[in-house]
Amino acid sequence: MLNFAIETAREAGHLLLEKFGRITQITKKGDINLVTEADLASEALIIDRIKSHHPKHAVLAEESGEAIVIGGDTTWKWIIDPLDGTTNYAHGYPCFCVTLALEHNGDIVIGVTYDPTRNELFATERGRGATLNGRPIRVSATEKLSEALIVTGFPYDFKDKDNFARHLTDFLFHSRGVRRDGSAALDMAYVACGRFDGFWEEGLSPWDVAAGKLLIEEAGGQITYYDGAPFSIYAPPICASNGSIHSEMLKVLN
Ligand code: IPD
Ligand code: CA
Ligand code: CA
Repeated sequence: MLNFAIETAREAGHLLLEKFGRITQITKKGDINLVTEADLASEALIIDRIKSHHPKHAVLAEESGEAIVIGGDTTWKWIIDPLDGTTNYAHGYPCFCVTLALEHNGDIVIGVTYDPTRNELFATERGRGATLNGRPIRVSATEKLSEALIVTGFPYDFKDKDNFARHLTDFLFHSRGVRRDGSAALDMAYVACGRFDGFWEEGLSPWDVAAGKLLIEEAGGQITYYDGAPFSIYAPPICASNGSIHSEMLKVLN
């Protein structure tokens, strides 16, 4: 099933790349929340592949909304973001990916995040580690927040998040730097491979974080809520890190 996920992510990624810079249809799901024809085409391709290879499995996909039960077996569920980084994509900024995960009886067992612009494929299977283009990856060894490069995202409804500005300012003051790249799935893959030391964000959805959660866990990192409690992909917010700087990050978030 990992091979199936990898092949499907690559196919969808190539579709995104073919359409990149050629988008003619952009609609709005909210004031600043966009959907393009590429989001829809990528999602249709992935669901089509699942229907033909795993016809009994359920699907939770961003653009289709509620879980679609294809074959009645909800113990297996594919969680899909067909294009993470839609705003970047719509503006021609080459930072986006396709990300999918497989949940079995409530646990993520497979995760794949593919960035077609750099041809970087992050993959993981529960208990078997995480890889980037087939090579094992680990989180960073950074021990102090003051030496850490942190990444965050601005949720579409950031105006309603009371602590949003305070968290951003505090991380700017206490870390080496803060980045905002516009793709939560890539942010998390980058924590898994040590490019970033930590990530926090509010207002994410299961498809943004499902693959990233397993990538980070399998790469030796840590993911919790802001109070340190275990994280569920179904309920934001998220604090993810290499583990060593986690308690310092939680201090900033509280
Ligand atoms: C968004 C991106 C972004 C994050 C938003 C997400 P989308 O996903 O992951 O980085 O800040 O909260 O909704 O809409 O591009 O799939
Ligand atoms: Ca997303
Ligand atoms: Ca998306």
